[in-house]
Parts: sequence; C-alpha cells; structure tokens
Amino acid sequence: MRTQVGIVGAGPAGLLLAHLLDRAGVDCVVLESRSREYCEERQRAGLLEQGTVDLLNDLGVGARLAREGLVHHGLALRFEGVSHRIPLSELTGGKSVVIYGQTEVVKDLIAARLAAGRDFRFEAEAVALEGLDTATPAIRFREHGREQTLTCDFVAGCDGFHGICRPAIPEAKLTIYDRDYPFGWIGILSDSPPVSDELIYVNHDRGFALFTMRTPHVSRLYLQCEADEDIANWPDERIWDELRRRLGDAPELPQGAVTQKNVTPMRSFVAAPMRHGALFLAGDAAHIVPPTGVKGLNLAAADVRVLARALIAFYAERSPRLLDRYSDVCLKRVWKAQRFSWWMTSMLHRFDNHTPFERRMQLAELDYITGSRAGMTTLAENYVGLPFEDL
Ligand code: FAD
Ligand code: DHB
Repeated sequence: MRTQVGIVGAGPAGLLLAHLLDRAGVDCVVLESRSREYCEERQRAGLLEQGTVDLLNDLGVGARLAREGLVHHGLALRFEGVSHRIPLSELTGGKSVVIYGQTEVVKDLIAARLAAGRDFRFEAEAVALEGLDTATPAIRFREHGREQTLTCDFVAGCDGFHGICRPAIPEAKLTIYDRDYPFGWIGILSDSPPVSDELIYVNHDRGFALFTMRTPHVSRLYLQCEADEDIANWPDERIWDELRRRLGDAPELPQGAVTQKNVTPMRSFVAAPMRHGALFLAGDAAHIVPPTGVKGLNLAAADVRVLARALIAFYAERSPRLLDRYSDVCLKRVWKAQRFSWWMTSMLHRFDNHTPFERRMQLAELDYITGSRAGMTTLAENYVGLPFEDL
C-alpha cells in the first residue's frame, strides 16, 4: 500500500487533517486502532473556539454544528459564593465560543469522509514506524489479525497521548516539558437541563467545580477530586451532593439520570520539536493541557491547520520551506495555550499545600480579574482563542 500522507489516529487531529488534505487533492490514508462506535462515543471536550468552528464550516462539515451548537457570549467565575460574569463577546470584538461535543465533531467528520469514499480504516492499529529519516517512511499496522505496510512520503502522528508515534522519536532528539497536578476531575453527563445558560467555573474551599452542558437537556458537570480517585467511591448521590455544595445557594441544580461517569487526570505536557524527519506530531500526541482552559481539542485543530498548509505547499512547490517551520509555528501557540491552561487551573483549584497567604492571593487574583476590564479582557481573549500564527 502506498499513499502521500499516512495519518495515524482518527481523533479530531487526524480527521481534520484528512479533510484538509482531501480537499486539496493530497492523497492520505487514516489508520485508527479503535472501532467507529468507540471513537464516536468517547466523551471528551465540549467547547469550540471560533477558529475551530470556522475551520469546520470551511470544510463543509458545519451544518449540524450550526443547527445544534450552543453559541456562548459569556461565562461566570464564581468564588466566595458570588458569580461574576465575563462578557466574552463584548471584550473580544464580537467573538464567541460554541458548545458542541467532541463526539459530535468526530461523528460529522467520520460520516463526511466515509460518504466521500476515502480510504479510512477502523480497527487498524499502527504497531511501528520505519524509515523516518528516509524519503520512503512506512507505517506497519495490524488489521483483521494481519500485518501490513503503508509506505508514504510523510507520517502524521495524530494518535493521542498514548500512541506510538511520539515514542518512535529517539529520546535524545526530544525535549519533554511537563507538570502533573495533585488532583483530577470527575466528569458526569446527566439527563438534566443546565443550571444556567452559560458555563459556571467555581472556586470553592472544597475544590473546583464546573457546570457546563451538551444540549439544553443534557448537563456536563465536573468536580475536582484526588488525582488517583477511584470512581467507585463516588455513587451518584455523593456527586450531586458535592456539586450542590460547591455551587452554593445559586439557582437550584436540576438533577437527572447520570449516563456517563469518569475521572480525568490533570497534566501539562509538551514534546518539542513536533517533527522528526518525515514524522509530524499533531494534537495530544505532542502536547496535553489541563482542561480548565478548554484548549485540548482546539489546539489539535490549530496544529493540523498549519500542517495541512505546509504539506499542500510541499506538493504544489516541491519545497520543504513551510514544513521546516511547522514545529516552531505550532509551538508558539501551544506555549500560549499552556500558559493560559496552567493559569486558569492554578487560579480555580484547591491546592492542599497552599498556605493561608497563597489562598488569599488566589482570591485576590479572582477579585482583580473579575473587577477590572483589563483583567476580564486578558481572560476573554485567551478563552475565545488567540489569533492564528501565520505560516
Ligand atoms: P485523540 O482524540 O486522543 O485521538 C487519537 C486517536 O488515535 C484515537 O482515536 C486513538 O484511538 C488513536 N490511536 C492511538 N494509538 C493508535 C495506534 N497505534 N494506531 C492507530 N490509532 C491509534 N479537552 C478539553 O478541551 N475539554 C475537556 O473536557 C476534555 N476532556 C478530556 C477527557 C479525557 C478523558 C481526555 C483523554 C481528553 C480530554 N480533553 C479535553 C482533551 C481533548 O479531548 C483532546 O485534546 C483531543 O481529543 C485531542 O485530539 P487528538 O486527535 O490529538 O487525540
Ligand atoms: C467543557 C470542558 C472544559 O474543560 C471546559 O473548560 C469547558 C467546557 C465541556 O466539557 O463542556
């Protein structure tokens, strides 16, 4: 088998890249280790920046998003029992964000690519990368119990944090920057309407909580928990009780059947550079952000936007000029998103090792950010997404 670009992984990064390349007539094959159903049901991110929405529209896969996505013009930060609204659109020249589950983005992208009859293999697991320093790299993969080889010009490593692409880079060629946080998040999906039309981020003495949604009838709710929390310790009633306590005496929290429950670790991670020879890493394969800043999925989309442009230019001009800039251009955005995600995480969570002084600093920062137009603007412009770097 041969193609121009071999894409490992059908998460948002791999799927968006495949669509961008298809549209420009660059041949690619997507290999995904999991089943289609698994990819479409995996609960993850829910909030899209304007730039990600624009990209989906540009690719012609934005029709359902336009119908069903919930456009948000503001959010609330709540601390010491009081909510403070940040008017995102007013502070950013009219930009907004959209609630539309990653599951829905993935469903739309898979359906459109299958409808176009493109080569797309589920349950095809990449097991090794070969010849990354040569002009003919190859992906060895296992499909239906049989090992096969896909030869290509370039490999796009879009296989997430636990994939095989990043580990295929010699250790000495990669610098890892990381930070683990001493807590995680319990996330639930509930068949109940959201408590508010806008998201509420809560800093509470008992820990962080986030009240978000998927639809006007389905809530997505998060609670700060121990890093190694056993979900078995959290029966539904305990979760609802804790959510109510952290929300305080705001409007009463609607309660419904819990249809999903999981624990997410919190981590900041960057592997640099994002390229080794013919291999280009994109999305979670190269970097992880704690979810407090909603940057994970949006960064994956920003990476492949740059990668697609560079690959398309390579085939049009036969010049590696833009490919050579891929990692530097992406990392500029990645580091700014890391900073914002780390800052939001630090400002909003409970840290058991905080001294009373550090706790007062956290509250003073929240008070400043919500009380000053400059403070609110710095949060808002990062939250809706900074402008794209030019390649
Ligand atoms: P992924 O979505 O991880 O896709 C990688 C794909 O590669 C997967 O489909 C995987 O099956 C496939 N793959 C892996 N190995 C192989 C192989 N060897 N061969 C073939 N295929 C392979 N972000 C937010 O902004 N907000 C959130 O609330 C949020 N919650 C999250 C909860 C969890 C549990 C996780 C893990 C992430 C969460 N994120 C969140 C982050 C966000 O979902 C990711 O940043 C986003 O999915 C990145 O997309 P990706 O395409 O880079 O990687
Ligand atoms: C969602 C998740 C987040 O981490 C966040 O900051 C905002 C929204 C969500 O799942 O809807």
